[in-house]
Amino acid sequence: MKIACILAGVTAFAAPQILDCERGEGPDYGLWTVDCGLPQEIHFVMWKPHQPEAWDRLFKEFHDAHPDIRVKTEIGPHSATEFHTILTTKLRAKDESIDVFLIDVIWPAEFAKAGYLEPLDDVIPEAERRDFFSAPIEANTVDGKLMAAPFNIDAGSLYYRKDLLDQYGYKPPQTWGELVAQAKKIVEGEKEPGLAGYTGQFDKYEGLVCNMLEFIRGNGGRMTADDGSLALDDPKSAEAIEFVREKLIGDVAPKSVLNQREPQSRGVFLQGESVFHRNWPETWKIVNDAGQSKVAGKVGLAPLPKFEGGRAVATLGGWQLAVAAHSTKKQAAKTFVKYLTSFDTQKKLTLWTSQTHSRKTVMEDSEVLAAFPHFKDLTQVLEAATPRPRLANYHEVSDRLQRELYERISRAPEERGGSGLGWIPPILGIGVLAALVFLVARRR
Ligand code: GLC
Repeated sequence: MKIACILAGVTAFAAPQILDCERGEGPDYGLWTVDCGLPQEIHFVMWKPHQPEAWDRLFKEFHDAHPDIRVKTEIGPHSATEFHTILTTKLRAKDESIDVFLIDVIWPAEFAKAGYLEPLDDVIPEAERRDFFSAPIEANTVDGKLMAAPFNIDAGSLYYRKDLLDQYGYKPPQTWGELVAQAKKIVEGEKEPGLAGYTGQFDKYEGLVCNMLEFIRGNGGRMTADDGSLALDDPKSAEAIEFVREKLIGDVAPKSVLNQREPQSRGVFLQGESVFHRNWPETWKIVNDAGQSKVAGKVGLAPLPKFEGGRAVATLGGWQLAVAAHSTKKQAAKTFVKYLTSFDTQKKLTLWTSQTHSRKTVMEDSEVLAAFPHFKDLTQVLEAATPRPRLANYHEVSDRLQRELYERISRAPEERGGSGLGWIPPILGIGVLAALVFLVARRR
């Protein structure tokens, strides 16, 4: 039905604009929207995608289906830590350049408390939430409200050179000890300069916390105590950290892993320069893309190993779609979020990228399972994934964890002087002694 639409906000200096408008049913939640022929522009802030062509296709499809909304995208960095800074700066300033944005699974509590998020209960109604993995729904539910919509879900997995393991008669390692032994044998046997046994993400950023949680919790340790203080000196935690420092880094993993995040560490594996590699599910498609990977078709995927007598732990990761509480275009923003979290969109994106999405029903879809048979086992790993501490001040805790963990995996205790702060007491002691001598001398 055509109706006349008079633009609101017309100033005294401009003649009222009468536009040809189409009235139609709101695409998603039964609301009525008015398309005045002028597309509404919403600003979407996302990280740098690993597979940008898939996102280009998605935006095109969204624009074709919603000519009344234009999505202007701002690409942030890959790193969750740097991305956090960009988002919080914009949100604190109620910046107009942000309507919709991606947030890490560890941030909903913090962002909700800061008042940055528009509740999205109407975007994913209660009854529909059963179709999603429960962990991200829980993470996004703050004080009974859905403060962000789960988008993708991640869990750490072990990628390995199937061709090399077959050649040496190995099955994927069940324990970290086996992984080290296999990596050593293969690296020695291959005599290829530059071939690493293991690569993962050990740079000082959020990815380090994810990688270390897998070792620490897998060894029965913990990262933080209930009050949020660090628990890295707990015997089990310290033992796991020592394993990473002594048995992985500088032995089967090159020291350069201390500077690597997801893209760099994956790059080493794509070049055929690592036997084992820890990364997230989306890596599957990339390592098997002959256009960019020298090991396409030669890769196997397995759950991460465990410690003898322990259990395999994979860190829960993933991203959520949020709408800024200060946005002036909430309806359009919600339409976009609804689109990105719909079954059809998540299925498409899964097939294009191998990224695992938060709608569990997509993982169970026959077409998706035919394309990625390993999803059958991966679903269990995703379901059992271990979350990072759920704290409203997680960002601060993570910052401390990153600094402490990095210090502890890169330098042995004797090099660090015990806790790494061991030089402080002697200096304080010398200072106090000097002050006493000075005071006594003055009295005389
Ligand atoms: C992935 C995960 C995210 C995690 C990040 C660390 O993007 O989905 O949860 O914080 O990696 O690098």
